[in-house]
Amino acid sequence: MNSNLFEFIRIDYPLKVCHMRCMKTTHKIYFESAKSMSVIPSSSVHLVVTSPPYPMIQMWDDMFADQDCEVGAALRNEKPLQAFELMHRQLDPVWGEIYRILIDGGLACINIGDAVRTVDEDFRLYPNHARIMSAMGTAGFSALPLILWRKPTNAPNKFMGSGMLPAGAYVTLEHEYILIFRKGSKRGFHTPEDKQLRRESAFFWEERNAWFSDIWLGLIGTIQKMKNDHTRLRSAAFPFELAYRLINMYSVKGDTVVDPFLGTGTTLFAAMASARNCMGFEIDAGFEADISSQKNTIVAVANGRIHRRIQNHLEFVKTRSEEKSPPAHRNKHYKFPVMTRQEVELFFNPLENVRQPDENSLEVRYADVPAADFPGDWSQLLPARPEN
Ligand SMILES: C[S@@+](CC[C@H](N)C(=O)[O-])C[C@H]1O[C@@H](n2cnc3c(N)ncnc32)[C@H](O)[C@@H]1O
Repeated sequence: MNSNLFEFIRIDYPLKVCHMRCMKTTHKIYFESAKSMSVIPSSSVHLVVTSPPYPMIQMWDDMFADQDCEVGAALRNEKPLQAFELMHRQLDPVWGEIYRILIDGGLACINIGDAVRTVDEDFRLYPNHARIMSAMGTAGFSALPLILWRKPTNAPNKFMGSGMLPAGAYVTLEHEYILIFRKGSKRGFHTPEDKQLRRESAFFWEERNAWFSDIWLGLIGTIQKMKNDHTRLRSAAFPFELAYRLINMYSVKGDTVVDPFLGTGTTLFAAMASARNCMGFEIDAGFEADISSQKNTIVAVANGRIHRRIQNHLEFVKTRSEEKSPPAHRNKHYKFPVMTRQEVELFFNPLENVRQPDENSLEVRYADVPAADFPGDWSQLLPARPEN
């Protein structure tokens, strides 16, 4: 294993009144099955963010059948419960690998939707989330409270079954799950450096209120532009915002995030935007061109997201100041008000450039940005400084 992968360089030295920060993160892609992630040492990863192929959703049938001919036979012979179980048995080794590679206190977030399907005139639900929760328990994980990601649809056929006549109509399936698990006990931050990185990785109070809600609505912002029909058919990408939030909620800068089902690379790019290292596994090398094309836009996308976080915060500060009173604390890097002491050292790392040191690696450098040089002018948004 290349130790550079976990490198997170930060050189602090005085430069007039500000401090110079020089950081880099490394991002590695393996086009191979995640059933064995033997290139990753045990207990070395801080967070997993992923979404597997969904058992019993038709678009994934061939992929599961290609890996186990019994799946194809079960589907052909109209034995859906057997097919469901065999598909999940292909995912189970990955859950075991995730347990091995995570540190004690490391977290795993799995986005999954249930499936509905009619086979041999029998319409039923295939509860993927429940089967994965059970497998993660068997692998040794503790389940934490989960998130329902609500994805309303306007499709005219969203209501299934017997229309307006009881009792054969079915409720719509307009949500997916983000299952959250922890390996072992709560993560500790023991050294002064670890504690400092954790403080700088804080999120805003108002972000906490939205992100740690158990229902997520209106997630948008996927940056994928699929290169060809092959990858479009196989993508099922989750939104950039989904991965970005989870990474910022459950890891700190310089951590290593793994996505065993990388697809178009959303987790990898969200890790770049959050100053975290990342490793991704993807069985389908057809995604290579798509991942590669995104490296040219990620600097703008990531810095845009950081800029939006600051703008949103300033709008929050303005409203709060008008409706109640201005937040009592002040961020020491940006000088804007924040609600709690925990946000005082919060610091964003804008991306400077992306380099490709070898075929399957990307390296990101982060800018040295004194607060006043950060793109955007928030001074007009600031409320008058409280007199104290
Ligand atoms: C739901 S998609 C992931 C989409 C991804 N989150 C994104 O935003 O693009 C699942 C991916 O897992 C891949 N896959 C399936 N089995 C795999 C395995 N055993 N190892 C690695 N990748 C696998 C599929 O090719 C597919 O790209």
